[in-house]
Amino acid sequence: MDRPLFLSVEGIDGSGKTTVVDFLVRRLEEHRIPCLRVREPGTTRVGERLRSLLLDSRLEGIHPWTEVLLYLASQNQQVKEVIRPALAKGTCVVADRFADATLAYQGWGRGLDIRAIEAVQREVLQGFRPHKTLLLDCPVDLALQRRSARTGGPDRLESESADFHERVRQGYLNLARREPQRFVVVDASKPLDRVLRQVEHLLESTGIGRTA
Ligand SMILES: Nc1ncnc2c1ncn2[C@@H]1O[C@H](COP(=O)(O)OP(=O)(O)OP(=O)(O)O)[C@@H](O)[C@H]1O
Ligand SMILES: [Mg+2]
Repeated sequence: MDRPLFLSVEGIDGSGKTTVVDFLVRRLEEHRIPCLRVREPGTTRVGERLRSLLLDSRLEGIHPWTEVLLYLASQNQQVKEVIRPALAKGTCVVADRFADATLAYQGWGRGLDIRAIEAVQREVLQGFRPHKTLLLDCPVDLALQRRSARTGGPDRLESESADFHERVRQGYLNLARREPQRFVVVDASKPLDRVLRQVEHLLESTGIGRTA
């Protein structure tokens, strides 16, 4: 590995992102590669405040573009305050969701103009994007089952309809088709050990964990 990597993990709710991020961070640490775990929205003090606001299931009446701008505010804050500085000092960054989620959820999911979101995002993030993005692709009903097996009620976005999540899923697949170099699509309906084996392959392809 000749540069610190910025990896993001994407997928619909319950697809296994946090499980995969845990695994990635553990593997990087085992290889003694400095790494930082971030989540979107969140990570920074500003971002975590925005996260509680955005995921609050009691919050009603938020305009779709207000939602986009709040997500972009969190992304802007964490790129400038945390991600860029970490990469600059040689630390890898692993993100539990990042900018693609805004396009998938607010663009495809909510039906907002995707080009318009992209234009604002490009301006705010100055084209900054992950080196690799793992997309955990999973049927909506399976993700729903996994989610409901967890404790705690649904958050504001998890409470959306199955149709909404299906649009988000298709949105993510569209993004992956548009940028095949950056995206690695993993069939997340498979048992966890198979999913993690594919994640391991991704790490090897970046030079991490490759045996000489
Ligand atoms: N491939 C898999 N096979 C079976 N169960 C899985 C698999 N991947 C994850 N799980 C389980 O499914 C549940 C949801 O996984 P996880 O919390 O990682 O998803 P998530 O994408 O982070 O969800 P959210 O978007 O709600 O944060 C967890 O209980 C996890 O152990
Ligand atoms: Mg999660």
